[in-house]
Amino acid sequence: MKLCMIGTGYVGLVSGVCFADLGNEVICVDKDKLKINKLKKSIIPIYEPGLDELVKKNFKAGRLKFSTDLAESVQKSNIIFICVGTPTKKNRYEADLSQVYSAAKEISKNIKSFKIIINKSTVPVTTGDNVEKIISKKVKHNLFSVVSNPEFLREGEAIRDFIYPDRVVIGTKNKKSNKILKNLYLPLISKGAKYINTSRRAAELIKYASNAFLATKITYINELANLCEKLKINVEDVSIGIGTDKRIGGRFLRAGPAYGGSCFPKDTRALIDTANKSKTSLSLIKTVVDSNDKRSNLLLKRITTILKNKIKNKKITFLGVTFKANTDDMRESSSLKMIPFLNKKGAKIRYYDPTGKKSEFDKFKNVEFKNNIKDACELSDLIILHTEWNEFKLIDLKKIVKKKNFIIYDLRNIYSSEKMKKNNIKYFGIGK
Ligand SMILES: NC(=O)c1ccc[n+]([C@@H]2O[C@H](COP(=O)([O-])OP(=O)(O)OC[C@H]3O[C@@H](n4cnc5c(N)ncnc54)[C@H](O)[C@@H]3O)[C@@H](O)[C@H]2O)c1
Repeated sequence: MKLCMIGTGYVGLVSGVCFADLGNEVICVDKDKLKINKLKKSIIPIYEPGLDELVKKNFKAGRLKFSTDLAESVQKSNIIFICVGTPTKKNRYEADLSQVYSAAKEISKNIKSFKIIINKSTVPVTTGDNVEKIISKKVKHNLFSVVSNPEFLREGEAIRDFIYPDRVVIGTKNKKSNKILKNLYLPLISKGAKYINTSRRAAELIKYASNAFLATKITYINELANLCEKLKINVEDVSIGIGTDKRIGGRFLRAGPAYGGSCFPKDTRALIDTANKSKTSLSLIKTVVDSNDKRSNLLLKRITTILKNKIKNKKITFLGVTFKANTDDMRESSSLKMIPFLNKKGAKIRYYDPTGKKSEFDKFKNVEFKNNIKDACELSDLIILHTEWNEFKLIDLKKIVKKKNFIIYDLRNIYSSEKMKKNNIKYFGIGK
């Protein structure tokens, strides 16, 4: 099949490459010329394990093309995926859909034969209706169909998630589109993915409801961790104890910093906005958002206590700054709140992240990137394990750090408290 991905970011690039690998002809379009020029030279603009090889392979095979020409790419394709960003509007809960609607307008100018237009971006309920209205201003109804096909891949596991999804959700009541899309996804369905055909609005809500549920699970265990700290209980024991109940499930029950990333924060806010507009209260999700917003401050208070209120001139190292491991994505990472706060209080921050220096910290004096763990940690008073990259799991900090009484604050509970105690290292974890 001939596909066009509009927006070549985390979702558009990964799903485009995977579709190409399944034998389709795919054009990945982006208005960012630099990104497309890099991709044409097989330089991958994001960090995603396995993506590099897959792009090179499919580009070489001629199944995958990159372009900045949306008009031509739409004309040459039968199925158009909209994969553009849907961030939160500034200082609001509402999703900013301007990228989706402007893509829809551009698509509408280039439809001459039947096209399926798919919203793969995470969009609030009724966005599909609005995209249909925009396109129908220029195109007859029998020449297009607007479908919702939300994407559930996780950064860091994106290729595996795309190829082996739990489910493929197709929101359309158009039989022709449903048949074509079931065929497109057949290689994934035959590997065990459940194919769910539902209404367009239901598909839109399924995506938000899934993310809000997962955000709730994380927030629940984070709040329980706060209680565990007071009661001297290890939250990990509680996670195992409740997670082994199949009705609950053990995933997303690891206490840590505030959830971040490009999805959970904006999607929980957008879901609340959708509920407000429908005059329905989603008080549970409001509480989740509120609790998560406060979490970084809570952890910063703990750091202040750990340092006995003496933050000024303390040398603090952050190991990992991305919102989770195996991605370079900094969007809404809790480090973006924590590092500036500690810096303002006079701490001297060094950080190391396997995905390199982050421009977000360039404006801060005394926040310095080091390109290896040793240089980042050797002079530290306090090491904050922020992101659970594998390369941090077995490091011998006692050998690396020169300060005698350095402290570790392990926000991901990757180290053993017992081992730390044995090695006479002052160690704090989450919820213990
Ligand atoms: N990142 C994830 O893990 C993830 C997972 C599931 C769903 N989603 C959803 O998918 C959507 C995309 O997310 P992302 O992380 O890939 O975003 P992104 O910011 O990485 O990429 C979006 C791309 O779209 C391009 N773009 C915007 N308007 C365009 C236009 N008119 N023509 C061509 N290109 C255009 C931008 O230049 C950018 O490169 C969002 O709605 C997001 O919520 C993301």
